[in-house]
Amino acid sequence: MADADTARAKEYRAEVPMRSEPFFLKGSNNLDWGLKNRLANIFDPESGRTVMLAFDHGYFLGPTSGLERIDLSIVPIIAHADTLMLTRGILRSSIPPTYTGGIVLRASGGPSILKELSDEEIAVSIDEAIRLNVAAMAVQVFIGGENETKSIHNLTRLVDLGNRYGIATLGVTAVGKEMVRDAKYMRLATRICAELGATYVKTYYVEDGFETVAAGCPVPIVIAGGKKLPEAEALQLAHDAVQKGAAGVDMGRNIFQSEDPSAMIQAVRKVVHEDFEPRDAYDFFLDLKKGKPAKARRTG
Ligand code: R5P
Repeated sequence: MADADTARAKEYRAEVPMRSEPFFLKGSNNLDWGLKNRLANIFDPESGRTVMLAFDHGYFLGPTSGLERIDLSIVPIIAHADTLMLTRGILRSSIPPTYTGGIVLRASGGPSILKELSDEEIAVSIDEAIRLNVAAMAVQVFIGGENETKSIHNLTRLVDLGNRYGIATLGVTAVGKEMVRDAKYMRLATRICAELGATYVKTYYVEDGFETVAAGCPVPIVIAGGKKLPEAEALQLAHDAVQKGAAGVDMGRNIFQSEDPSAMIQAVRKVVHEDFEPRDAYDFFLDLKKGKPAKARRTG
């Protein structure tokens, strides 16, 4: 045998216990290897956080401002995202398969902006999700909405299928116009998603009590950016969310509708992955926008 020919002594190092590291994301330690591997392609194992670039808005809004030409507005900045959140139509038609970050596939849909939005169904098969090599499937959950139970069943069905094949499920808390966007509602909605098996949950930031929303959810939470804000305010929002327990952002309009989407996503990364203060991140954004080499962060 070839192994018997070697002069090198075997080194079993029996005195050294084998390493067994806990997985870096909260609530994810008991997941299977494939699922953890996919999560590590969404969340950066170094910071434990993610910058998801969301541009799935067209699935009910059509050609949203900033997304009229995804090849021109989005493709040039995807290298700055940890993960892309999008529909399969845009993935196949517009995203180069050489992109190696995580893919979070919009997996629910149905009604357009012209109809009752909560009336969604599962809109992709598990075979298709596997074929597209996605890391997670995203499903809208309408807690308190007209189709609450149906949307919950969409989530649990995808959790069953995703767990069978090692694909994560992102529960997206959709807040209807009639709901109050406060910590009490967000705690309810995020906790229900986690209890029913979502691997991680997307919600909205609330000024008052967001830390209780994050603490009460036993799996990672990411926040949506929401409607377009001035860049300094959007960076403040991302900063406050991660400092209060969010594991990153799922940001769309505040990036692709920015005066400079490339500078903005890079500034968001500084806040999310490097704990930049908002004013430092805004200076960084302005420097990149002006084409100047970005300054180091201020101290103090
Ligand atoms: C809504 O259409 C999607 O779920 C978006 O992916 C999500 O709302 C994040 O986008 P934005 O930051 O624009 O709210």
